[in-house]
Amino acid sequence: MKIAVAGTGYVGLVTGVALAHVGHNVTCVDIDEEKIKKMRKGNSPIYEEGLEDLMRKNKERLTYTTDYKKAYSDAEVIFVGVGTPERSDGSANLDYVYAVCDNIIESITKNVVVVIKSTVPIGTNDKVEEYLNSHVKKGIHISVASNPEFLAQGTAVRDTLYASRIVVGCEDDLARSVMEEVYRPFTQDPYNVPYLTMNRRSAEMVKYASNDFLALKISYINEISNFCEEIGADITEVTRGMSYDKRIGDKFLNSGIGYGGSCFPKDTKALHYLSVEKDVELKTVKACIDVNKHQKLHLFKKLKEDYGNKNLKGLNVAILGATFKPGTDDLREAPSIDNVKALLDYEVNVSIYDPVGLDRFEKIFGNSINYYDNIDDCIKDKDVVMIMTEWDTIKNYDIGKFSKLMKNPVIYDGRNCYPLSIVSQYKVEYISMGRKEVHNI
Ligand SMILES: NC(=O)c1ccc[n+]([C@@H]2O[C@H](COP(=O)([O-])OP(=O)(O)OC[C@H]3O[C@@H](n4cnc5c(N)ncnc54)[C@H](O)[C@@H]3O)[C@@H](O)[C@H]2O)c1
Repeated sequence: MKIAVAGTGYVGLVTGVALAHVGHNVTCVDIDEEKIKKMRKGNSPIYEEGLEDLMRKNKERLTYTTDYKKAYSDAEVIFVGVGTPERSDGSANLDYVYAVCDNIIESITKNVVVVIKSTVPIGTNDKVEEYLNSHVKKGIHISVASNPEFLAQGTAVRDTLYASRIVVGCEDDLARSVMEEVYRPFTQDPYNVPYLTMNRRSAEMVKYASNDFLALKISYINEISNFCEEIGADITEVTRGMSYDKRIGDKFLNSGIGYGGSCFPKDTKALHYLSVEKDVELKTVKACIDVNKHQKLHLFKKLKEDYGNKNLKGLNVAILGATFKPGTDDLREAPSIDNVKALLDYEVNVSIYDPVGLDRFEKIFGNSINYYDNIDDCIKDKDVVMIMTEWDTIKNYDIGKFSKLMKNPVIYDGRNCYPLSIVSQYKVEYISMGRKEVHNI
C-alpha cells in the first residue's frame, strides 16, 4: 500500500520504517529539513537500536521529504505521528496534529484514511474527522482511525515489529478494512502480533490508561522505596518478594529517581486535566504526578541533608547519565535536568557523562557545566558522583575506580546500579534508593 507518515520522530520514523519493512511503500514527511537530509543519506536523526539498519535495508520502499503535498496526495493511508506536548496547564497541545490536518486538507484529491498515532485526549479522533471533512474539497471523504502507539524508546524497533498488541479504533467499514490490510503482515509469522479493534474513544483511552498505569506503578514503588529508607527495609528485597506474585509481576518495580521522557509525564497530566475538565478527577493519577515531581529530587535532597546547604557551594559533582533512561538520546523530562539545575542553584561545579545524550544536554546547559564522553575523566578528582541513568557502561563500571580516581569516593546512586553486597567490598560511601547506606571510608 502507499502510505505517508507525518512526523519522523521516535514514533513516526519507527512506524514508517516498520511499515516499509513488511512491504508497504512509505513516504516519511517532516517539516525539519535537517532531519530529512540526514535520513536521505541513510542516517537516523534519533538514536534507536537497529533503526538505521532497517532504514538501509528497506531503502527502495522508503522516501523522505518535506513535500507534504505530493506525499499526502499520493497516499492511500496517512499516519499522523507528530508531537502532542503538554501545555502549561497540563492539557495536550494538539497544534501539531491540526497543522498536519491542514496540510492534508490542502493536498488530497481522493478519499483517504487518516490514522492518528500521536497520543491524543479521548474524543480527539472524532473532532479531527469532523474538522477534516468540514474543510476538505466537496466529494472527498476522510475516515479517521485511532491507532495508539505503545513502543518504548530504547527498544522501539523491536516493540513495533513484535508489538505487544495493535490497537485500532474505527467507526466505519472503510477505515476498518484499510487498517486490516495495513497491519495484516504484522499479524502473521514471524511477528504474530495480536490485533484488537474497538471504537475510537476506547482506543484513545487504552493508550492513556496503559501509560498512566505504568507511571503509577513506578510512583507507587518509589514511594514504598522512600518508606523503606525510613523503616529499615530494603526495597530490592521487598520487590523481589512482591514479584513472585504473578498478579504483580517483576516489571516496573525498580525504585529510582522518578520517570521522565516524552510520554509518562505529559500523559499523566493530560488524562488528569481531562478528568478535572469532566468534573470526575482521577485521584490516583494526581497522586502519581505529585509523587514523581518530588521523587526527581529525592537524591539531591539526601545530598543536601548530608552536606548542608552551605557546604554545597564549590563542591565538585560528577553526574553519570543524562538521558531519561538507557538506550535513548532523549532528554525530555529527564531527572538529570532537574538535578543539574538544583546543583547549579547551589553553585556546585557540575560535570556530566553520558554515552549518547551530551550534545542535547549541552544545548540546555551550555558552558555552565563540563561534558565527558568517558566515566574515568568525568569522575577524576571529584567529591561526589550522582548516578541518574542506568546505562550498561555505568552498571558495569569497575567500582574500584571510584576510590582510585575520585577525591572522595562518595556515590549517590539514583538507579540502584550496584548490589549492596558488592559495593560493601569497596572503600566507598554509597547512598542509593530504598536501601541501607554503605559507609566504608
Ligand atoms: N516517544 C515515545 O516513546 C512515544 C511512545 C508512544 C506514543 N508517543 C506519542 O507519539 C507522538 C509523537 O511522539 P515522538 O516522541 O515521536 O515525537 P517527536 O517530537 O520525536 O517527533 C515529532 C516529529 O514531528 C515533526 N513535525 C511537527 N510538525 C509536523 C508537520 N506539520 N508535518 C510533519 N512533521 C511534523 C517534528 O519535526 C518531529 O520530527 C506523541 O503524541 C507521543 O505522545 C510517543
